[in-house]
Amino acid sequence: MESINVLLIGSGGREHALAWSLRKSPSIGKLFIAPGNPGTEFLGNNVDLDIRNHDAVLEFVEGNDIGLTVVGPEQPLVDGIVDFLDAHDKVAFGPTADAARLEGSKSFAKEIMEKYNVPTGSFKLFDRHEWSAAEAYIEENESWPMVLKADGLAAGKGVFISKDKEEAKKALEFLQNDPALSAASYRLVIEEFLEGEEVSVFAICDGDTATILMDAQDHKRIGDGDTGLNTGGMGAYAPTPVLDADSLENIRQRIILPMVNAMAEEGIPYKGILYCGLMMTAQGPKVIEFNCRFGDPECQVIMPALETDIIEIMMASVHGKLDYIDIKVDSESFYTCVVLSSEGYPRSYEKGKVIGGIPADSDSLYVFHAGTKKDDDGKLVTNGGRVLNVVSKAATLNDSIQKAYDAISSISFDGMYFRKDIGAKGLKRF
Ligand code: AMP
Ligand code: GLY
Repeated sequence: MESINVLLIGSGGREHALAWSLRKSPSIGKLFIAPGNPGTEFLGNNVDLDIRNHDAVLEFVEGNDIGLTVVGPEQPLVDGIVDFLDAHDKVAFGPTADAARLEGSKSFAKEIMEKYNVPTGSFKLFDRHEWSAAEAYIEENESWPMVLKADGLAAGKGVFISKDKEEAKKALEFLQNDPALSAASYRLVIEEFLEGEEVSVFAICDGDTATILMDAQDHKRIGDGDTGLNTGGMGAYAPTPVLDADSLENIRQRIILPMVNAMAEEGIPYKGILYCGLMMTAQGPKVIEFNCRFGDPECQVIMPALETDIIEIMMASVHGKLDYIDIKVDSESFYTCVVLSSEGYPRSYEKGKVIGGIPADSDSLYVFHAGTKKDDDGKLVTNGGRVLNVVSKAATLNDSIQKAYDAISSISFDGMYFRKDIGAKGLKRF
């Protein structure tokens, strides 16, 4: 493959991991990251580009001879950046806005799953003007807990698991009245509570077929033992002992390929990453949600494990050629990512704390930046809720967990917080 200039959109730990993987590609030319972070600065050029301004993105793509645009987060995908670039004959990796509705609208995802018999919890939809009917539905419900969800993107704040009528009514009221949720909750999904172990499966799709990259487990709650508030994710490990090769193939056959076929049938072919949030129930795997991009921090454990050139994979996805490439992932090792966050996250927290002691990367230890920045004196300081991602590789899950925590012991900033039990739920299964 000829060398190719790449524009990567995003600024989190996921994007640092993607930039790291893109930089390793034999076909990478220039790498630009918009806006990037102090970690990505070492891998390419961070550029100040208003990614909501599609014309400005196109101008940059044309001006810098960009051959591939890679979109990290969901919002630009849902906003149609891929459609826009594609309409101007520019290559962009990821789903179109219509296809990204699998993440952007939970009711859309549910209706497709129902129509094409993809296993998921039973559900009922209520538009905003029907919310007295939702109240009546809650009143008559006999199976608890019950799950209430805002239909649209809500940055993880639109899901309520209610253990009884009283809680469900409170959740309904919140969904109805919270100004931050007003755009997302034009429709409400009330859904069956699924019991089991949660696991995420990441597949790459090309509109026609799909290959599983890896499975991983996230740790969404702020506190040890999965307690406290939901966050973007406090750590992840991969692969998981929850799914073996047979169960992954079963998930591909029963969930992923049927979804890819369903989307093609509906005239909205799905290309890009399909992130399947699954519950392993007594009746088998069921879909909790789909996301249209890599997870953060799951991407940070998948990129180091990927042995095939990421540009080759992304190009095969864009051009419908996944059947022609063999994707290899390190199956001999385990990868653990521990997120270091600012005290107070996911609520309010202070910024500007000086960060020290970041160990040098090696072939089995990586530190991916998220909420960091250089201050006026050039010092590295905290600049967000999730600050750093410490990722390690080892032959056993136990060793990879140990190694990540050992590396953390040298890192410091005021108010540094991290979970002490990342990967522990995986260890219990060995
Ligand atoms: P979501 O934003 O849809 O991923 O939901 C956030 C979290 O809520 C998930 O990661 C699950 O832990 C939990 N959750 C969502 N839907 C369900 C469900 N139907 N049954 C059980 N847990 C759920
Ligand atoms: N770590 C969960 C997510 O990226 O949605």
